[in-house]
Amino acid sequence: MDLNILVLPGDGIGTEVTREAVRVLRHVAGKWNHPLHIAEGLLGGIAIHRTGSPFPEETARLAADADATLLGAVGLPEFDNCPPEKRPEKGLLGIRKALGVFANLRPVRAFAALLDSSPLKNALVEGTDMIIVRELTGGIYYGTPRGISGSGPETRAVNTMTYTRAEIERVSHVAFRLARGRRRKVTSVDKSNVLENSQLWRRVVTEIAVEYPDVALDHLLVDNCAMQLILNPRRFDVVLTENMFGDILSDEGAVLAGSIGMLPSASLGGRKPSGAWVGLYEPVHGSAPDIAGQNKANPLGAIGSVAAMLEYSFGLKEEAASVNAAIEAVLGSGRVTADLRPSGAPATTEQVGEAVCAAIG
Ligand code: IPM
Ligand code: MG
Repeated sequence: MDLNILVLPGDGIGTEVTREAVRVLRHVAGKWNHPLHIAEGLLGGIAIHRTGSPFPEETARLAADADATLLGAVGLPEFDNCPPEKRPEKGLLGIRKALGVFANLRPVRAFAALLDSSPLKNALVEGTDMIIVRELTGGIYYGTPRGISGSGPETRAVNTMTYTRAEIERVSHVAFRLARGRRRKVTSVDKSNVLENSQLWRRVVTEIAVEYPDVALDHLLVDNCAMQLILNPRRFDVVLTENMFGDILSDEGAVLAGSIGMLPSASLGGRKPSGAWVGLYEPVHGSAPDIAGQNKANPLGAIGSVAAMLEYSFGLKEEAASVNAAIEAVLGSGRVTADLRPSGAPATTEQVGEAVCAAIG
């Protein structure tokens, strides 16, 4: 099968972890004889530097032409005081919207080899296996009106949290279908005791659940969910939530997995004009400027995102499973980066990438 992939390394450790993810992708393509065509593009801070825009038109064109896009991370401290419109992150929001990838899947698993890496008690974390389905192209990230106006004490900032019924329905279907392949439980997370937006969310999710009588649905308020994730993580199977709540809860989930460097993600749902599905794959972590350029970032979230790409964009289940098994083998070998607190000397980003390829065989 031909694999036409766009790679967007982005900023900071994005370039380093993406290099290892591409190494693994090339290895898999070679082993299973899939012709691999890789294009590289600009997104984020590097794109602002080179073109003036965080999401250049050329990148939009390349993404539309590719079967799938692999992304590193975006964000540079030099843009910290810029308005959202002029920041690297605007490029990320732009490509998600342009591709129409409304469902962001963020699996959170407690790997046996990493139980000691979690600051939480092993007995509590052990066996955790959930997937957060985060709505990705709506909500407060995109709602208008937005902006800062006025001056002095009357300076006012506005953001708008908005969802339509159709937006909630489509992401709910993704969550319920996923649950059918798992433990058949969806927990929908909202703030319906305060927000009308969440009241619509809860109403629509409850209606969609009727079409999936074999899947159990419960609802949690987001503040309570934040607590339950740490108190009783095994209670969760599929967590369905809106854009900003999902952003926040998935970083919390990273603590259960041992390190945010471990978390992959798949953003799905968009279709190309040809009718083909499009997918965007990125680790959950950010650009981590504090450790960029030092060859010490954990590439396993990026490599796990390659596994997700092979599975969801190409249906290559065997290849995906071999990448995931290799990740576990490398974790078990202890040859991991500093964030996972190995007992011996930490491995470099590159050594982890090479170890994953070796484990695939
Ligand atoms: C994520 C990130 C992004 C988000 C940032 C970089 C805009 O935190 O993917 O979780 O908030 O969506
Ligand atoms: Mg985030």
